[in-house]
Amino acid sequence: MTQTLTIRRPDDWHLHLRDGDMLKTVAHYTARQFARAIVMPNLTPPVSTVEAANAYRQRILDALPQGTDFTPLMVCYLTDSIDPAEIERGYTSGAFAACKLYPAHATTNSAHGVTDIRKMTGVLETMQRIGMPLLIHGEVTDRHVDIFDREAVFIETILTPLVADYPDLKIVLEHITTSEAVDFVNAAGPNIAATITPQHIIINRNAIFDGGIRPHAYCLPVAKREQHRLAVRAAAVSGSPKFFLGTDSAPHAIGRKETACGCAGIFNAPYALESYAQVFEDEGVLDRLEGFASLHGPRFYGLPLNEGMVTLERVDTPVPDSLGEGALALVPFHAGETLRWRLAEKA
Ligand code: DOR
Ligand code: ZN
Repeated sequence: MTQTLTIRRPDDWHLHLRDGDMLKTVAHYTARQFARAIVMPNLTPPVSTVEAANAYRQRILDALPQGTDFTPLMVCYLTDSIDPAEIERGYTSGAFAACKLYPAHATTNSAHGVTDIRKMTGVLETMQRIGMPLLIHGEVTDRHVDIFDREAVFIETILTPLVADYPDLKIVLEHITTSEAVDFVNAAGPNIAATITPQHIIINRNAIFDGGIRPHAYCLPVAKREQHRLAVRAAAVSGSPKFFLGTDSAPHAIGRKETACGCAGIFNAPYALESYAQVFEDEGVLDRLEGFASLHGPRFYGLPLNEGMVTLERVDTPVPDSLGEGALALVPFHAGETLRWRLAEKA
């Protein structure tokens, strides 16, 4: 049995780092595992200017121990009124790696999101022309659409026409949860890819209601039924360059999860790579973990591969019930379980 696995240093192509004290609490977990991360811009107020992105990047670097080798890749949060010139300036100067489309009110801090994609013509034409990736939270926001159908309905009613109108636009459909999303991405051209979280290939919707309501298994898009988990899991381990690692680690303090109206988000950063490794091993394709974690993402974004390597060791790794203290305490994904892999400390 394989006892160690050495792969090129991975990146996280979808991550929430927050700000202030929470940023200081969580950033090091990601920097320990990943060389780069696409940092979501859903702060209050959202990160929608070059100036805001540069300031946030600096706060992230300041939140890490000195000498940490970690590169935050900043994302511009699209609003109805955003100026295409600001986006182009940000992309060509390296301040922005991508733009994020949150349909307004789809999820946490998305109130400033886009109310109508048809208003975004100037932005989308610019992005298509300069080759800038559009990262999409793919759920419709209509309260009348069943929450478990919102991704599939988005693909049919919004994404399909969008791709027809902008055939060369680079798109990442983020945190996919359904067989419809897998089929869509597989059928599309090489300019369409998707990120996949650990939770959506490990739990199905039963986990949210397992003997009682389980707020720490709740995220958006919400986990779907088993057939969808299996389809997304098959895509993740398929070796296709269209699918790559994006944890969507989304920390919320315990008090904001365990409450009458708990926030959406699963905090998986501390053991993300171990979690994915277990899935790839269970599927008998550990040799494909490197592509998913370290190769497909940079190739899609047109960025260089990381230079260094990391090693996973087969060591039982108990996941604590909580991490952090006081008002910043968090429950990690896999809390109370024992994972089979551990990321070796750097030599
Ligand atoms: O579960 C989620 N949490 N989904 C999102 O889209 C946003 C995120 C957050 O920021 O907490
Ligand atoms: Zn997210």
